[in-house]
Amino acid sequence: MAHTDSFILTTLNNGIQKVVLNKPAKKNAISIPMYKELTILLNESANNNKVLIFALTANGDFFSSGNDMSSMMNVTPTIEDAISTVKNFVDAVIMYPKLLIAVVNGPAIGIASTILGLFDLVYASDKAYFHTPFSSLGLVAEGCSTYTFPKLFGHSKAGDMLYLGYKMNAKEAKKYGLVSKIYNHDSLEGVWDDLNKISNLSSESILATKRLMSKWNREILLKVNAEELNELTKRFESPDLIERVVNFLSRKSKF
Ligand code: COA
Repeated sequence: MAHTDSFILTTLNNGIQKVVLNKPAKKNAISIPMYKELTILLNESANNNKVLIFALTANGDFFSSGNDMSSMMNVTPTIEDAISTVKNFVDAVIMYPKLLIAVVNGPAIGIASTILGLFDLVYASDKAYFHTPFSSLGLVAEGCSTYTFPKLFGHSKAGDMLYLGYKMNAKEAKKYGLVSKIYNHDSLEGVWDDLNKISNLSSESILATKRLMSKWNREILLKVNAEELNELTKRFESPDLIERVVNFLSRKSKF
């Protein structure tokens, strides 16, 4: 299984499809073509009998800095197309029928954090943190976090994150159950040995349990995703968002 987009690498061994965000110089910011590629990979993987696990990780010191901001104000063909690309990606995550595992090698910002609430298992480096700075940019929470975060963190801590941009470290994320296991950063590679052990378990049993665990929330999550991204489309009509994003981009002139 070879994919040519060098910003996303993928290999398949022992039932584990390892998918690596590979844009470390830009902290693995996710552009529209990368969302499209990830969606194709998820959908192909869903139908590939050889795959039991889709494991998302990244190269470099960040898991991902979220949406690629450099393209945010210059989206072609339209913002609606871009948002529908993100919607298709989140839908593919919601619908994925095998185990969806994140190996969070470093900080996860924006959608790279919110999407984790939809994963089956999240393993994190002790250097990871989870940050959703939507309100400082005039954006709105996505990745179904308006549904999953209150369930995970409780109403008030979810508010701290989604309204106020509270930055949560890996230890706290484990305490709340977003993260299932923390690895010392230098030993993070050991996670792949641990994942390989899953092949000793019954894949039929795992897939049946996944079907049951995802069944009860799936319709709700698809609605949440659609509603969140409708709201995001509206935000893009607001001068408040334009001003905040332009200020942010010009403050960081290197964007
Ligand atoms: N989109 C596009 N480019 C990004 C990016 C993003 N989300 N995040 C980082 N980059 C780029 C920077 O522009 C920089 O590029 P350059 O080397 O060509 O100048 C490079 O990645 C390294 O980033 P830098 O800011 O120098 O690294 P840092 O360690 O000081 O800070 C971050 C890293 C991720 C904390 C900081 O870049 C940041 O806050 N990014 C924006 C995150 C964000 O708000 N995402 C959207 C959430 S809704």
